[in-house]
Amino acid sequence: MIIGGPSSQLLAGRVAAAMNEELALCEYKAFPDGEAYTQVIGDLDDHVVIIQSTPTDRDLVYLLQLLDVARHSRVSLVIPYFGYARQDKQFKTGEPLSARAIAWAVSPFLENGRIFTVNIHAPSILEHFACQSLNLDATPLLADRIREMDLHDPVIISPDKGAVKMAETAARHLGVQFDYLEKTRHSGTEVSMAPKEIDARGRDIVITDDMIATGGTMATAIALLHKQGARKVYLAAVHPVLTGNAVLKLYRAGVEAVIATDTLDRGVSSVSVAPVIAQALKG
Ligand code: R5P
Repeated sequence: MIIGGPSSQLLAGRVAAAMNEELALCEYKAFPDGEAYTQVIGDLDDHVVIIQSTPTDRDLVYLLQLLDVARHSRVSLVIPYFGYARQDKQFKTGEPLSARAIAWAVSPFLENGRIFTVNIHAPSILEHFACQSLNLDATPLLADRIREMDLHDPVIISPDKGAVKMAETAARHLGVQFDYLEKTRHSGTEVSMAPKEIDARGRDIVITDDMIATGGTMATAIALLHKQGARKVYLAAVHPVLTGNAVLKLYRAGVEAVIATDTLDRGVSSVSVAPVIAQALKG
């Protein structure tokens, strides 16, 4: 039985269809004081799959409520987009490791269970779960979509060195070049950014990253690559968080198209991660 949380209904439906499993009917609403209300309608199986991304604090509460409903079943938990994953280190004294706090809140419900994430920002977070855990990679699915796009002399670029692994994976899948944007500081106030190795002139560029949140990182990269003579600039990201006016920023910067997955259900979520989740759940 697949239980889809409120932020992952479409993905849960797709996983249930791919696995030919029952999709539970659930109700999600708020009490008059704003507290979240969850009900799973009908009996639960001995083994249930809960799929719920946690882009907001409320989504995290819904997830805890679902885990409590399923406390007598063996649970396979899928958190396709794991919120707070960028708070995986203590940067200043007095700060929490928020990602660890969430892992510890969820862990008591997973004693005999498993957890799956998709391109979690810091895979080390999975070490905070005592149960079996696996971080799935949606990059090959994004690469398959890029292949269908008939690009001109394409190159895959990471917006920084830290995320170059994803660009490399996509590039190897496609058999094309990859690179990353390198920052050079010329003086106290002057910083320039450019691809480390490749010349962007006249080429179609796909910038890859695990997530687009405010769009600031990508908008800067798009504008820069256009300045350097790129023909068309596309974005491919796993998690389209897209807060506030992120989409406007990306299009103002001159993006040709944004490709993302359905770890979050947005207008740009054209690639489904359901096949990799279904495959992992069968394992
Ligand atoms: C950072 O480490 C991430 O990989 C993304 O590059 C970043 O979170 C994107 O954030 P924003 O869209 O707000 O620039």
